[in-house]
This record gives sequence, structure tokens and C-alpha cells, in this order.
Amino acid sequence: MGERRPEMGKWLLYQFFHKDPQIAKYLPVTRKYTHENFAEMLSKFRMVYVKPVAGSMGKGIMKVWLDGQNRIVVKKTIERQHTFANKEQAMRYIDTLRQGKMYIVQQGIHMATVGGRPLDIRVMMQREKPGGKWLFSGMLAKIAGGNSIVTNTALSRGRVMDVDKALKEALHWSNDRVSQTITKLQQLGLYWAKHFDSYQLYRELGFDVAVDRNGRIWLIEQNTLPSHALFARNKANLSAYRRIQYRWGVYQRARMNRSLRAQR
Ligand SMILES: Nc1ncnc2c1ncn2[C@@H]1O[C@H](COP(=O)(O)OP(=O)(O)O)[C@@H](O)[C@H]1O
Ligand SMILES: [Mg+2]
Repeated sequence: MGERRPEMGKWLLYQFFHKDPQIAKYLPVTRKYTHENFAEMLSKFRMVYVKPVAGSMGKGIMKVWLDGQNRIVVKKTIERQHTFANKEQAMRYIDTLRQGKMYIVQQGIHMATVGGRPLDIRVMMQREKPGGKWLFSGMLAKIAGGNSIVTNTALSRGRVMDVDKALKEALHWSNDRVSQTITKLQQLGLYWAKHFDSYQLYRELGFDVAVDRNGRIWLIEQNTLPSHALFARNKANLSAYRRIQYRWGVYQRARMNRSLRAQR
């Protein structure tokens, strides 16, 4: 296999997805973090996420919102929130944390919650051989830990749950509505994964999808080295976990056979 191309980071990733109107409609509005964009986005959406372009595992993420008195509240991952009288003060605080690094500011999604905690859905896609067709391998819900603005399980001490159960609890949906959404997410996972082939033929992709309080689907991000272990954490996802491990092995053998043939 050739070398891996560099990770795009959140800003290039957004632009790459946004090129396709069929994908763009699932993306929260996203801008480079500048004072002007931040001020504009906060007035428009009243709640935004500020994220390091090169971040992962939830690190460095902030949620910013306007409270009832139009003060500005900034909350980092699992930490205590800070309230500021105006945007200038809030931006000064953000800039101290940012330390000159590139960030994005993104429309905040009011995520559906289980027991008051936000959830998002990991959709796992795999190939069984280099360049082979994309296959859907499983999905699960990640529930944020207490007092967390991110659902990343390690950082927020969150938990995983069956998607079916999570959606029913969060949105009180019927069986039909839930299974329609699950089918939709599988189709989207396939479409989104194919979109990446023009950048690099990845072996696995894990999409993080938010479902908001109105049941609308939002694509939050894509992971090129998605965790397998996440699927082993919950009994309901064990069959998906086995499928993921199995496909990983099939790919491994296909790759070995290919390099053996190449050597002959
Ligand atoms: N625009 C947003 N609105 C609401 N929640 C968000 C938003 N962006 C991120 N989050 C929450 O933060 C988590 C981490 O964000 P993500 O963009 O995946 O960064 P990382 O690469 O650090 O995992 C998401 O899984 C989600 O729970
Ligand atoms: Mg993520």
C-alpha cells in the first residue's frame, strides 16, 4: 500500500465534504475562527462550537452560547463554565486557550439527549480488500458523560448504547421511525465513504452523526482510524464488533496476498 495522505483536519474536511451538495445539507455551518466570524455566528445561531482544526478525542473543544441576559457563556469539554459580559471578553478568553492555533467556529447542534446527556452516533464503514467496495459494519450511540459538552467516551467518561434504544429513549420514536432512521444512516454512511475515495482509498471510516432534538441528522465528523473497541463495550453491539474484527482480518489477508503476488 502507498503512504497515507495527511489527515485533512477539520477545516479542509469541511470544505471537502461541502463540495457535494448532497453532503453539504447535513453539515452544520462552519467558518474559520476569526473574531468577525465568531461574533457573526454567535449572533446568528446563539450557540456555537469552537474547535481546534487539528484536534481529536474531544480535546480543546468549547461550547459557547448566549444566556437569557445576552451574556456569553463558554464551557470547555468537562470543565466549569465561564460567563462574560460581552463578546470581546469572551474572545479574549478563547484566544488565551487557542494560543494562535487554527480553530473553526461551527453552528451548535441541540442534540437529542438520554437522561439529559447529549448523544451522537458512530457509523462504521469498512472494506474487505484494498480498493474493494464499502460495507456498512455497524453503528452505536455514544452518550456523553456527566457535565460534558462532547460525547467522546474517554474524555467525557461517557458510555455506549444500542442506537435503537438510544433513539427511542431520546426522541420517543416508534419502531418504524427508528428503523427508517437506521436505514437512512446506513445509506448515508455508504455515500459519505464513497465521497472519500477521490482523496484516498481508506480501509475504514467512522462517521460521527448528531441527531438533534427535532430528529434532524447532522454530520459532525469523520474518523480515519475509528475505534473497534468502542463496539466491544456493549453487549448489544457485540455482533457488530465481531463483524468489524472479521472484516479487518479479511482485508489483512487480501493485502498480504496482493503483496506476495507482486513479489513473484
Ligand atoms: N457543532 C456541534 N454541535 C453540537 N455538538 C458538537 C458539535 N461539534 C462537536 N460536538 C460534540 O463534540 C464531539 C467532538 O467533536 P468532533 O468534531 O468530533 O471533535 P474530535 O475530533 O475532537 O472528536 C462530537 O462527537 C459531539 O459530541
Ligand atoms: Mg470526534
